[in-house]
Amino acid sequence: MVKIAPSLLSADFACLKDEIDKIKAAQWIHYDVMDGHFVPNISFGYSILKDVSKVTDMYLDVHLMISEPSKYIDNFINSNASLIVFHYEAVSKDEIDDLINYVKNQNVDVGIAIKPNTDVEVLLPFLGKLDLVLVMSVEPGFGGQKFNPIAVDKIKKLASLKQDNNYNYLIEVDGGINETTAKLCHQAGVDVLVAGSYIFNSDDYTKAIESLK
Ligand code: DX5
Ligand code: ZN
Repeated sequence: MVKIAPSLLSADFACLKDEIDKIKAAQWIHYDVMDGHFVPNISFGYSILKDVSKVTDMYLDVHLMISEPSKYIDNFINSNASLIVFHYEAVSKDEIDDLINYVKNQNVDVGIAIKPNTDVEVLLPFLGKLDLVLVMSVEPGFGGQKFNPIAVDKIKKLASLKQDNNYNYLIEVDGGINETTAKLCHQAGVDVLVAGSYIFNSDDYTKAIESLK
């Protein structure tokens, strides 16, 4: 069964606890961190994550859209992230192994995200060590954008690599997910669907979440 990760980016920040109470039909919370540098937008940081962790037991999927993630990883781990996902494009290749090991040694799950123009192949050396691969189906930075179908082929590729090599990572897709695009990702072999505007702009969050499963 596919997991749903509502993106808090599209929630009403003035009443986050109420918003979180309304997405209990999902298993995960997707937490989008933006620094105004790696992406042209600013969202929220680790102190709000800590407060979020106090009002829910849901799995906290932290998507770091920030430059130099290594500087802040401790802050997010100490704020009870369940999973840290950093961007392949935000780090130098020779620090990736160390970053993965660092997060895993603290008993936190670790994933890498790739933008629409980044090929799956760049991740080949790391796939055996990852808990999750995040395939972006929009340019990171904003909610409410249109799904880029390039993600579907990447999900398929990751699913076959996983099967052929007995890897353990989950495949997550993020950006422009609605009932129609969710189906395409299901067929391709996705494990986790992130959805922001589709859920938080709906009248009934539970119904919206169920419609993606
Ligand atoms: C975009 C974020 C997404 C975003 C998804 O940079 O990473 O998680 O919130 O929003 P929707 O589902 O509206 O495309
Ligand atoms: Zn995201």
